[in-house]
Amino acid sequence: MPENFYQQTTTAPTTHFDVSLRPPAFSEFIGQEKVKERLMLMVEAARMRGDVLAHVLLSGPPGLGKTTLANIVSQAVGSTLHTTSGPQIEKAGDLAGILTNLQKGDILFIDEIHRLHPAIEEYLYPAMEDFRLDIIIDSGPSARSIQLNLPRFTLVGATTRSGMLTAPLRSRFGILNRLDYYTKEELAKIIERSAGLLDVVIDSAGALEIASRSRGTPRVANSLLRWVRDYAQVRANAQITGPIADDALAMIEIDNDGLDEMDKRILEAIIYKFNGGPVGLNSLAVAVGEDASTLEEVHEPFLVMQGFLQRTPRGRTAMPSAYQKIGAPLPKATQHDSQIPLF
Ligand SMILES: Nc1ncnc2c1ncn2[C@@H]1O[C@H](COP(=O)(O)OP(=O)(O)OP(=O)(O)O)[C@@H](O)[C@H]1O
Ligand SMILES: [Mg+2]
Repeated sequence: MPENFYQQTTTAPTTHFDVSLRPPAFSEFIGQEKVKERLMLMVEAARMRGDVLAHVLLSGPPGLGKTTLANIVSQAVGSTLHTTSGPQIEKAGDLAGILTNLQKGDILFIDEIHRLHPAIEEYLYPAMEDFRLDIIIDSGPSARSIQLNLPRFTLVGATTRSGMLTAPLRSRFGILNRLDYYTKEELAKIIERSAGLLDVVIDSAGALEIASRSRGTPRVANSLLRWVRDYAQVRANAQITGPIADDALAMIEIDNDGLDEMDKRILEAIIYKFNGGPVGLNSLAVAVGEDASTLEEVHEPFLVMQGFLQRTPRGRTAMPSAYQKIGAPLPKATQHDSQIPLF
């Protein structure tokens, strides 16, 4: 499997593949109906009032469409999108530079907004609320604060960790738009749409096969589709059917539930090395040789959602289905033990 399969592409340049598959308008964006409906309503309301769109916060696991939605929103209001990310803004001056370059109605997209430096966040508050920037120039006795008026703009913030947003920042956004994992049917539609754009023939069984192994995530669906397309091209007249998709995905060790090698390594580590858990995130990360935040943001949410893993106050615990998945016997005592709450 390609190394950067599930990694965030937020700071990396978007590949051509990604650009061409990204739905350009609400009408082509499949799923996330509630979020989509709200955003469309906000856009419509702003248009009717001739006003600037209110700030928008998007949250959810990687690859569910936050960046895509930011692009769609900016298209819908017909404004320019400026993209940056939390870790990219290192100094207050960086933020000032970005903000003073905006035109009225522009959209500023800050990806990974939970990673903004706290001092920079402070500058953002008045900018969001009153379109005003208070900056301090010079230091020591000659330090003075000057106020800059900013054009009215829309901040679109995206985060994979809404729990890590500070309360003041969160409260400055109106509503929290949480993106959820997609259903198999929605993913199948996305795959069929992408296949059309990639000019590859796929039947509905093929689309469903890929969909059910895509971890509820469009980015994964598109990546798997690309792999299956290659496979079909070399081994099956470039036509994707259910059995072809199955063979292709087996070859890269994506199992029927969409679990990959790392997911299985995580479950195995908890069960064999830590006796089924509970085990802390950092020990687990060391045991599987993966970065703790990747574990927490990419692998765990899916494993939890699928019922393989539980997060308890004492750490991560393997659930019975995890034992089943890796073919380990279920230790009754340990399993029972781990259910005892801490408090
Ligand atoms: N609803 C959708 N319909 C069709 N394609 C989608 C949809 N949502 C996402 N995609 C596809 O999935 C890819 C990943 O989406 P996107 O980059 O917007 O995710 P993200 O939430 O910003 O992820 P990250 O947190 O990693 O930045 C896009 O390239 C796009 O092609
Ligand atoms: Mg993104």
